[in-house]
Formats: sequence, C-alpha cells, structure tokens
Amino acid sequence: MSVTFAEKLARMPGYQAGVPTGQAPEAIAAGAIAQLASNESPSPPHPKVIEAIAAAAGAMNRYPDPDATLLRRRIAERYDTDPARVAVGNGSCEILLAAAEALCEPGAEILYSWPAFSMYPYLPALTGAREVRVPLAAGDIHDLDAMAAEVTAATQLVLVCNPNNPTGTHRPAAEVAAFCERLPAHVTVILDEAYVEFQTHNDVDASVDLLADLPNLVVLRTFSKCYGLAGLRVGYALGSPKFRAAIDAVRQPFSVNALAQAAGAEAILHQDDVTRRVESTVAERLRVEEGLAALGLTTSDTHANFSWIDLGEAGEAGVVAGLAERSIAVRPGTPLGDPGHIRVSYGSAEENARFLAGLGEILD
Ligand SMILES: Cc1ncc(COP(=O)(O)O)c(C=O)c1O
Repeated sequence: MSVTFAEKLARMPGYQAGVPTGQAPEAIAAGAIAQLASNESPSPPHPKVIEAIAAAAGAMNRYPDPDATLLRRRIAERYDTDPARVAVGNGSCEILLAAAEALCEPGAEILYSWPAFSMYPYLPALTGAREVRVPLAAGDIHDLDAMAAEVTAATQLVLVCNPNNPTGTHRPAAEVAAFCERLPAHVTVILDEAYVEFQTHNDVDASVDLLADLPNLVVLRTFSKCYGLAGLRVGYALGSPKFRAAIDAVRQPFSVNALAQAAGAEAILHQDDVTRRVESTVAERLRVEEGLAALGLTTSDTHANFSWIDLGEAGEAGVVAGLAERSIAVRPGTPLGDPGHIRVSYGSAEENARFLAGLGEILD
C-alpha cells in the first residue's frame, strides 16, 4: 500500500514565484535581474528597522513573544484602537488562510471577485468550501452589486481586494461601506488592503473608520509592501476581538518570528518613511504609465505599485519571454486569471527605464 494524501491536495492551485527559485536574492541584489514580478518595494527597510532586527538577533535562542505584544500595541496606537482588535500573522497571507479555516466548513461559500490575488483560490481548496467568483466589471473594477447578489445563507467569507491585485483598481471606502451594509450579519468581509497606502484618491484610513459601524468587517494590511519588509513575512488585521481570537486559535503558536515582530514594531513608527516610499512609487507609476501609453498600450486605472497591461495583439508569452531574455521578470496574466496581460511592479527608476526600453524593443 502506498501513502495516500488528503483529497484537498489535488485542489491546491500551487504558487509560482516571481523569479525562479534559487537565483533570486543574489541576482537581484547585483542588479542582474530586474525583479518586477512580486510587487515588492525596490528600497531596503528604514535604517532604524535594520537596527531593530540586528538588536533582536542576539536573542534567537528564545521563542518569540506568542502574543506579539509590542507589535500589536504599536499597530493599535497607529490606528487609535485596542490591541485586542489587532491580529498579526506570518504575512497577511497567513491571516487569510487562518480566517478561512476559522470560518469555513465544507459546504460553506467563499466569495470573491476574479481576477484577484492569486492566493484566494487556496482558501476554498484548503477548507472544502465552495468558491464563488464574480468577474470584474468594465474598467477592471470590483462589481460590488454583482457580488452582493451572490451572497447566500452559506456565504461565510467575502474577500474584497482593494486596490485589486492584479489590476490595481480601487473602490472608495464609501462604496465598500454601502456594499457591507447590504450583507447579512453572518457574513465576514475581509477588505484586503495590501496596497492601500499607494492609492491617493481616498484617505488611507477611511476604511479603518468603517470598523466602528461594521462589526463583521476586517481590514487586512501588510508590512510587505509600503514598509519594504516582504522578506520577514508580517501582516496584520484590524477587526473584532472575536475575529482576532479565532485567527489565534487555528494557527501554530509563535507564527510571527521575533525578527519580524521587532521590525514591524519599529517600522510602524516611521510613517514619514512610508510617505517617502509612497511618493516615489507614485512618481514611478506616472513614469511607467506614460511610457506604456507612448507604446500604444492600455492599462487599468491603477492605484497600486504595479501596472496591469493589456497586450492586445502582442501576445503575453512572447513578451514575457522577451523580457526574461533581457533579465526582466514580470508576471504573465494567464496564471493571474486574464490571458493577454502582464503585471509589472514598479522598481527603481533605472529598472523601470530598462523595462520600458526592453518592452519597446520587443513590440517593435
Ligand atoms: C492583495 C494581496 N494581499 C495580500 C498579500 C500578501 O502579502 P503578505 O503575505 O506578504 O503580507 C499580497 C501579496 O502580494 C497581495 O497582493
């Protein structure tokens, strides 16, 4: 008899890394690869954050604080809320997976728009819940009316990716509020705001303000993007104390390591650094979007640190391969849910110029 694995294994979508495993860190650090495939920050963490990590490193013989007390307190202070309402995770991905486990039995429904973050299909695959996908509306925006119409007695979890990955489109907080108000009380809504700091048309905390009136809303954010800490894996959710307790109940203790706790607790104190990163991202967004328009390409109305490019006749595979030959990594649209597109993250000014020049050559 051979080993048999759980049935759900066959349902797991599998995650493709942005650049091939094994060559990433050295080649990227040396500038040999322009890594524009994972929506990371091109700048290293704030020097004080690196100091905090170094200071914590000497105590690695100990397990981390299981309650991440300092990190949760600092996050609570930043948002003027109670630490009991702050869940932290090994990346916000862990919180998404834990939420699905805590909320869903087989037969439950998980509702989300598509294309959206490529981790979402893991949630139904892991839990045996039924996934309900609602296509994006014209302009690649979340179709909140169509989503509300799909909610049933079995809907346990609704995911709203805002700004949406991979399209970068953003629905203002007032529209999200109107959507949430229409949902029955048994539904949890996770508003996934991994990129929210990069949008500038809405107050960055407008969604957090909604928590006071919407007890089933969870706002999910991360240190991976605008804080430049993707390598440490630390994210957080603001929601009800019950939500936080549920997340903590289903995952392993100590899931946020001590270096990540120290880094997050320091990073959140440097909002001026976040502002600087956002400003330079917005400047690069303008530069890249202008360059793409000059090449005759159409993009979604992005509010994130990446562009979603409709290649039209040009063909996704040839463009991705042509860029790879020039050591420029971008994401092909097919695995993200929309063939004929690519998603490009904004890197440094040099990397973005290299990307635009390379793309221009390929399209010629
Ligand atoms: C929309 C969205 N949510 C969540 C995440 C997860 O981020 P992390 O687990 O690094 O916090 C990502 C990462 O790319 C993302 O694009």
